[in-house]
Amino acid sequence: MISPTALVDKLKTQGTLSRSEFVCLIEGRTPEVAECLFEAAREVRHAVYGKDIFLRGLIEFTNYCRNDCLYCGIRKSNLDADRYRLSLDEILSCCRQGHELGFRTFVLQGGEDPHYTDDRMVGIVRAIRAGYPDCAITLSLGERSPESYERLYRAGAERYLLRHETRNEDHYAYLHPASMSLRERLDCLQNLRDIGYQVGCGFMVGSPGQTTECLVDDLLFIKEFKPHMVGIGPFIPHKDTPFAGHPAGTLELTVFLLGILRLLDPKLLLPATTALGTISPTGRELGVMAGANVIMPNLSPVGVRNKYLLYDNKICTGDEAAECRFCIQRRMVNIGYDIAVTRGDYAGHIGQARQAV
Ligand code: 5AD
Ligand code: FES
Repeated sequence: MISPTALVDKLKTQGTLSRSEFVCLIEGRTPEVAECLFEAAREVRHAVYGKDIFLRGLIEFTNYCRNDCLYCGIRKSNLDADRYRLSLDEILSCCRQGHELGFRTFVLQGGEDPHYTDDRMVGIVRAIRAGYPDCAITLSLGERSPESYERLYRAGAERYLLRHETRNEDHYAYLHPASMSLRERLDCLQNLRDIGYQVGCGFMVGSPGQTTECLVDDLLFIKEFKPHMVGIGPFIPHKDTPFAGHPAGTLELTVFLLGILRLLDPKLLLPATTALGTISPTGRELGVMAGANVIMPNLSPVGVRNKYLLYDNKICTGDEAAECRFCIQRRMVNIGYDIAVTRGDYAGHIGQARQAV
């Protein structure tokens, strides 16, 4: 049998492994294997993106949600969640502040809130597009119809984040209410990609019921679907959800998977997530050292930050946008990386072309 270290080499040269080899690499990992993986991941990442870290300014504009995912703190059954919506003016003021701070991508993220009809969302996207023509607009609004995705794309959104959460049917059913299906989620991802969005999928690490096989299902799906971005972070329990008593995912496994993802597609936009920074004070730095190249600091107004709580103990809920921006810069410079004031498109993607449209 091939050793885990030899599997790292194979993954680096071939860009993938068989199912049994992925299982062997994940289950056979040791600190030495991880170091070898991270070195390889950094090497391919530096070849494509150098030492640049791309920033995305995250605007959490609504925490109303019609869904009831069992892991999530803003699920509709959580009657203790303090709900809010940002007005168009509030969203634009986040963008103004973000632009001054050097952000060239805005990510509008929210629960699946029926208040934000297609007409309202199109209005918001158009206003940002008109005010900030040099910026990319990313949406993360959950599942919508193909027509809705199409209208938002035509209004000027170019990227969409929709985590698939798990590529394993049984695991998906364990994490979600019966009204939701993996099929629907995957159809949405396909529709987004067909329309022309740069698409991000992703999953939580260490979510309840997750096995190594589930993780390998995720990796093989990502290899086949070829998203532009993959968001992964540890599962962290939220006290008012059915998974309150489950343990959090680990830093160690999350960064190991970041390293694998980097070798799976060297061009991938790979964030070191807020959840990673929440389970460890240096989680985001370790994520970057393992191959991540994106950080998504919060631009939401301080008054609502402690309300967009998907999990417990989320970091930065008391900090101003500027504090996070410079905190991240300091952290990245400390480990030898630079913040890039650019849109940060997928390597080789002609992101600017759309701006003339
Ligand atoms: N822990 C970690 N991540 C979570 N998410 C939702 N709830 C949690 C949690 N308890 C993630 C999901 C979702 C993204 C916006 O946040 O993967 O897609
Ligand atoms: Fe928010 Fe460090 S990133 S304070």
